[in-house]
Amino acid sequence: MILDQIQQDIETFVRAKYPLVYLVTHEEQRARDLLGSLAQKMEMPLYFWSCTRGLICNRLVKDPQMTKPEAILDYIQTTAEGGFFVLLDFHAYLDNPRIVRGLRDTMNVLSATSNKSIFVLSPKKTVPTECEKQFILVELPTPDVGEIRLILQRSLQAVKGRVKVELDEEGQQQLAEAFRGLPSMEIENVLSRMMVRDGRLNTQDLKDVIFEKGRIISASGLLQFFPSQESLDTVGGLDRLKTWLRRKQAGFSQRARDFGLDMPKGVLLVGVPGCGKSLTAKAVSSLWQMPLIRMDIGQLFSSFIGSSEENLRKAIQTAEAIAPCVFWVDEIEKGLAGAQGGDSSDGGLARRMFATLLTWMQEKKQPVFLVATANDVSRLPPEFLRKGRFDEIFYVDLPRLEERAEILGIHLAKRRRDPARFDLAALAARTEGFCGADLESVVMEGLDTAFWENRDLTQSDLDAAAAACVPLGATMAERITEIRQWAEGRARPAS
Ligand SMILES: Nc1ncnc2c1ncn2[C@@H]1O[C@H](COP(=O)(O)OP(=O)(O)O)[C@@H](O)[C@H]1O
Ligand SMILES: [Mg+2]
Repeated sequence: MILDQIQQDIETFVRAKYPLVYLVTHEEQRARDLLGSLAQKMEMPLYFWSCTRGLICNRLVKDPQMTKPEAILDYIQTTAEGGFFVLLDFHAYLDNPRIVRGLRDTMNVLSATSNKSIFVLSPKKTVPTECEKQFILVELPTPDVGEIRLILQRSLQAVKGRVKVELDEEGQQQLAEAFRGLPSMEIENVLSRMMVRDGRLNTQDLKDVIFEKGRIISASGLLQFFPSQESLDTVGGLDRLKTWLRRKQAGFSQRARDFGLDMPKGVLLVGVPGCGKSLTAKAVSSLWQMPLIRMDIGQLFSSFIGSSEENLRKAIQTAEAIAPCVFWVDEIEKGLAGAQGGDSSDGGLARRMFATLLTWMQEKKQPVFLVATANDVSRLPPEFLRKGRFDEIFYVDLPRLEERAEILGIHLAKRRRDPARFDLAALAARTEGFCGADLESVVMEGLDTAFWENRDLTQSDLDAAAAACVPLGATMAERITEIRQWAEGRARPAS
């Protein structure tokens, strides 16, 4: 378990006489438990100091008056006893030169022979430059699957007899995996909410976990959470792509790992606009029951929220923390355009970001599945297309005859019209060169006419709408030929 690993690391620092370990976490109780168990193991007295309670030793109030930061530093310097001194929220004082000086004095006094270790426990990382070399920073990660299984066991134990557990061993493992990336408190809360609501714990509850994660992501500001409503059935045509996606799902299982398969990395969808690339990206997440998070490349470059490279790294970190998830980058060529070369100032930045992204794709171990889409293939840097980056590159073309009929049917059904009432084969034959979005607009236009004429939709409304539409195949004929030529030999046809 990752927590054991961290406890071991901290033990090493303490034995090596590092004077101060700075633990960064929002989960104070979890960190306190961790230090408590380490203190017990090393047979050291455990002190907690806070500006409200003063000094507490081994759970007993030692000095409630000692609420000044200077006072606790003095105490640590002068007391004859050794121990772990845990300073809560001490970051708040680290912009005060007197306190920083006091802290450094204290660290200098703690000689290699004294048995005293200082811990700062805080949700924020505030390290004064003077102390950078002396602080050991430890960030407490969110629980891993092993620890989540323990939390789950504890919660189940607590409600034993009152909650019906309808999850078998594999289901519990799945639930634990879905919880990854959430802090332990949050996991406990979500769990008890799920169980109290209907007195049972089952696969339905997995959805709640996904939603909960979404809230956390949106709060980070860089990524957008998409509670996905699209299913793969709302995507017409693209059969090969859909089959491939259905098969790839099994690749995330432990069984696939044991069998020797690599974790699925991602897919690049290129091709004609309006043909279902973004739609498919959205559908993948519901198919796999993973949260869908979208990274807006344009926003990454915006100077309002910090440096672009830092933002990209943060976005990647967030995605990894909440893995398994689908990480969607729409129209990736827009952000990477400058990466092609040229020496404009912007090009350099785009190139560096692009390198970061490529390295991550090559090395990532977490189940983060990247779905990237691109309309303009000429702007994609060639390194991007090398083997080993994406699992597959699909080329999405204008829909063929049967695909057009299917897409029309989907959009009629979406607007609560029975597709069987219309001659879709005839309409499909008349809509050569229409993209999926064009076909959707035919249905919309038809409905619009019918509504104004105060009657229900008829075949001739659809025919008229189709006749009035100038399809993408006509307006973008040249571009489409270019894309097709490019895709030849580089990408697999999606249908
Ligand atoms: N294959 C398709 N099946 C069903 N609807 C489609 C399809 N292709 C496009 N559409 C409709 O057109 C809209 C725009 O398509 P989108 O997926 O955004 O295209 P792009 O390939 O440019 O990303 C979709 O939201 C959907 O309503
Ligand atoms: Mg799109």
